Amino acid sequence: VPLQAHNSFGIVARAQHLLRVRSEADVRALLADARWRDVPKFVLGGGSNVVITGDIKPLVLKVEIMGRRLVEETPRAWIVEVGAGELWHDTVAWLMDQGWPGLENMALIPGTVGGAPVQNIGAYGVELQDRFESLDGIDLVTGQAFTLDAAQCAFGYRDSVFKHVGRGTNDFGLAGRALITRVRLRLPRPWKPVLGYLDLERKMEEAGVRDPSPRQIFDWVCAIRQAKLPDWRVLGNAGSFFKNPTVTPEQCADIIARDPKVVHYPLPDGSIKLAAGWLIDACGWKGKSMGNAGVYERQALVLVNRGGAAHPATGGEVMTLAKAIQTSVYERFGIRLEPEPVVV
Ligand code: EPU
Repeated sequence: VPLQAHNSFGIVARAQHLLRVRSEADVRALLADARWRDVPKFVLGGGSNVVITGDIKPLVLKVEIMGRRLVEETPRAWIVEVGAGELWHDTVAWLMDQGWPGLENMALIPGTVGGAPVQNIGAYGVELQDRFESLDGIDLVTGQAFTLDAAQCAFGYRDSVFKHVGRGTNDFGLAGRALITRVRLRLPRPWKPVLGYLDLERKMEEAGVRDPSPRQIFDWVCAIRQAKLPDWRVLGNAGSFFKNPTVTPEQCADIIARDPKVVHYPLPDGSIKLAAGWLIDACGWKGKSMGNAGVYERQALVLVNRGGAAHPATGGEVMTLAKAIQTSVYERFGIRLEPEPVVV
């Protein structure tokens, strides 16, 4: 089965078997089937946060569980349950249309709802964990269904229990074994805008608006992203390729002494977050290529596939470029950048 259409980088790779999962019953049937029960499995959502570096031997499960419904409405929140296979952005737009705002800062993020908790997606000051109630899933190793709340998901910056290897639901770590089936979002009432991001503040000023509506924020976020980030349907990519690193105030002072312009934000815990895009940019990588893998002209944190569908970059080329970037950032700043997408 060709996987090129199943990953936003547009990397060419094959899977021996790909199975579409449309319901919880499909998963139970699969796990009851002696042919598949003990076969290693790989869960694929929208494929917008993976780098595939070779053919995939495990059985690929493409999650296509659909459906959206309001499950609870209280004076303090709307709780909406969404099938893991629904597209994230379409869900955000649908929620706006229903009059249940709260996800407008996370408009236009590629991928599916089931992928969102895995890396705790976030943008413009809101992360999934801020709008999360609980999720359902199935442990593919034990066959057990589970429901996890936010604490059990162990959300962190672009991190969760689904990114750590462990021994199942009673132990930390569900990487490689959890299939998320449904996610319940919690949209707080009354709605309050989350502003404060420089790019958003600029849009507010341009528009001369003091108290924006959810729809205005939605439109601004879409415009900001369209100006900065490549559309993966046109130019393959997986969003930010590295996490923004955090450093101690001493490390940061050291860097400022040499590079006064370094973009940095103090965090509540006293540590300091650096803009990885700035570090990569400062090393001269913006717009550069190695083979068919390149660094996007307008955002150095995004690696892109310049070969199009006809001559796409391989996963190996992308990783070679990523390693070269890591080496130069380390040599110049002493900081080790950590990849953000899942490397398969
Ligand atoms: N910058 C440069 N040169 C560049 C790129 C960035 O100097 O080539 C500087 C910018 O001037 C800016 C700063 O770096 O001051 C931060 O850039 P930006 O606002 O574009 O945000 P980011 O830190 O690069 C993060 C997330 C994005 C998210 C935006 C907005 C990560 C890894 N990335 O990017 O998430 O959309 O903030 O909230 O945290 C993703 O995870 O895939 C993603 C796109």
